[in-house]
Amino acid sequence: MVGNLLKVTLLLFVAITNGKVRDRYYPRYHFAPPYGWMNDPNGFCVFNDEIHLFYQYNPFSSNDTGIAHWGHATSKDYFHWTHEPIAMFPDQWYDATGVFSGSALIENNTMYLYYTGNVNYPGETPDHINRQNLATSTDGVTFTKYKNNPIINGSLTTPNIRDPKVWEHEGTYYMVLGSSLNETYGRALLYSSNDKVSWNYISVLAQSNGTLGYMYECPDFFKVDGKYVLLFSPQGIEASGDKYHNLYQTGYIIGDFDYSTYTFTPTSEFVELDHGHDLYATQTTLDKHGRRIVIAWFDMWYQNYPEASDGFTGIMTIPRELKILNGKLVQIPVTEMSRIKGKQVWAINGYYTLRYKAGEINVLANGCKDFKLYIVSDNVQVTISYDAANGKVTLDRGGNDGIRRTDWRPSGQLKWRIFVDASSIELFCGEGEVTFSSRFFPKGKVFIYQGGAAKLKVREIVRTMPKPSKK
Ligand code: FRU
Repeated sequence: MVGNLLKVTLLLFVAITNGKVRDRYYPRYHFAPPYGWMNDPNGFCVFNDEIHLFYQYNPFSSNDTGIAHWGHATSKDYFHWTHEPIAMFPDQWYDATGVFSGSALIENNTMYLYYTGNVNYPGETPDHINRQNLATSTDGVTFTKYKNNPIINGSLTTPNIRDPKVWEHEGTYYMVLGSSLNETYGRALLYSSNDKVSWNYISVLAQSNGTLGYMYECPDFFKVDGKYVLLFSPQGIEASGDKYHNLYQTGYIIGDFDYSTYTFTPTSEFVELDHGHDLYATQTTLDKHGRRIVIAWFDMWYQNYPEASDGFTGIMTIPRELKILNGKLVQIPVTEMSRIKGKQVWAINGYYTLRYKAGEINVLANGCKDFKLYIVSDNVQVTISYDAANGKVTLDRGGNDGIRRTDWRPSGQLKWRIFVDASSIELFCGEGEVTFSSRFFPKGKVFIYQGGAAKLKVREIVRTMPKPSKK
């Protein structure tokens, strides 16, 4: 405890003396770390009326993952975040080289955090082992690791087994873990427990047949609108046509689940959750309104984006409500978006400059005609276009590997919601049945203009994230 306090003080000192987070790419209303490197969201939950978001965090540098800690933030509305002290440090033998990803379970005013401890053995085979662990908190600020960790031991034959997602169903606890069979076939494994502490392996929930990659990361399993959804991030899927062009994917399979036989029967193919360049490692929670909300790392491994030299790496997507519509998962920005201050501007002809580089753009156009929207700055042009003849949407951010495309046809009018935020663009098509999330790094002013007839409504969004300290 005292050791951790000392570390927090040291870290704050490091952050302040570094004090090098610059504003140009730092989001105004998407979550980002105060300083350093961030990847996966973790432990996303609602506890004592507050939304808690944890994340994979290197507090020392924005240039690399370092040894993962759990960063922590809280919010009342998904948009105004308070940075909390680091929740977990890599301070035990079983998590010495990384407090890896995991999830939260809330019960009896206690937060149970389930996570993977990573331990590296450089030069050996395998060169790391993953073990599953537990930490608890009753105040939502300080976390105590369970004295008998690990709760699921690691093994040399399965070095990659991680990212526990835990839930309760009719008095029994369940955990899904991402893993790999012989480092060749990605799989999601199901475990159960009666006491939250001792766990038994039950079944393979899903497994790649060779076309869905060699490793599944960050699995999540939940019921929404009467169906079960397995949401996960497979590694190793080959690009095919317009699909799977990112280094790693995130997608879902919809199906039915039988708790008496523990069998998941897919009723859909694997579908990519998003069609942009940068969305990975999702985390969902069921909030107090009964909504299933997803948030994701709005980035991708090994991109070397220029924000790293500004003192931070990684932002999160807008939290999105998940629903099933016509057999597909749709994503809708949470309604709390309206709590972000913004100025409404109507009907724009020609150029419009987003003064704070942040805004929500609503497009309404004829669904039978081509349409283009340009988001432009001195050094970069992003073109979002609808091709009516072929029923396709394309986001082209320019540069190497700039194009992402997918099938989509509006039912009736073309309806797009586009969110721009300093270094990110999120496009929601129609009712959210197709989304694109891509980072871009504009220098100077950001302005938009339209190619084709459309009604454009723009809301210039004012900052909700704390302003980073300047150099
Ligand atoms: C996904 C992931 C997880 C792991 C974490 C480590 O991006 O590789 O599988 O727990 O990141 O930071």
